[in-house]
Amino acid sequence: MTLLEAADVRKFYGDTCALDGVSLRVDAGEFVSIIGPNGAGKTTLVNVLTGLAPPSSGRVSFKGVDVVGATPVRLARLGMARSFQLVTIFPGLSVADTLAVAALSRLGRSARPFTALARDAEVRAAVEEVAVLFGLADKLGRLARTLPQGDKKLLDVASAFALHPDVILMDEPTSGVSTADKTAVMETLVQAARRMGIRAIVQVEHDMDIVFGYSDRIVALHQGRVLADATPDAIRADADVVATVVGRPR
Ligand SMILES: Nc1ncnc2c1ncn2[C@@H]1O[C@H](COP(=O)(O)OP(=O)(O)OP(=O)(O)O)[C@@H](O)[C@H]1O
Ligand SMILES: [Mg+2]
Repeated sequence: MTLLEAADVRKFYGDTCALDGVSLRVDAGEFVSIIGPNGAGKTTLVNVLTGLAPPSSGRVSFKGVDVVGATPVRLARLGMARSFQLVTIFPGLSVADTLAVAALSRLGRSARPFTALARDAEVRAAVEEVAVLFGLADKLGRLARTLPQGDKKLLDVASAFALHPDVILMDEPTSGVSTADKTAVMETLVQAARRMGIRAIVQVEHDMDIVFGYSDRIVALHQGRVLADATPDAIRADADVVATVVGRPR
């Protein structure tokens, strides 16, 4: 079953063509990685798919519904969530508060005062659930800004998971994390996705060990176009793609 589909999407920023006729499908059960050199259009594609940037032309549908022009809030209600390349930590919030804000937006009670909501058992349960899954349970009282980079990335992804999405899109979930810690971050979030019943994962990733290790399918972007859309084995065997996108022979 196709969950997310983009058809012939173009995106211009002034004269810059960031996406030049991109088509993409994500089916239930898939882990899809978007790769490509700096400026290839990876973040723009995620922004278009998640309602953050309207496409200049083309179609995007989620669960069969046309979602061009849909806001991120509406997409979250439909079952789509995302995390960001640059972590958007609220410096004054604790880990628990950060997760509570996300859980609140899912539970649709943002109109109630925050202090009252902090006591809300449902929010606490949701916070506890994701905190345990992401290994953050013993850090709930810490200020988010004091976490090490790996935990900041996990907190950002955990906030997206707190929305209980069907599909999650992650823009470089391990960027800024040391090579030694990247696999641990990926393992945590893949396990969490499995336990929470997330039906498909789309990630942007530069680390080719992570990309080849986790993906069912790889979409290689170059200058706003899809250069290849294939299994890890097929991508690895394609010397042109490897040279253009990976930049070194493997
Ligand atoms: N908000 C914006 N305004 C103007 N130009 C933009 C904007 N966002 C992206 N671009 C341009 O669109 C192109 C694609 O950028 P994008 O950020 O999508 O690339 P990327 O593949 O995510 O790169 P990176 O690997 O560095 O994260 C680039 O030429 C970039 O300069
Ligand atoms: Mg990017």
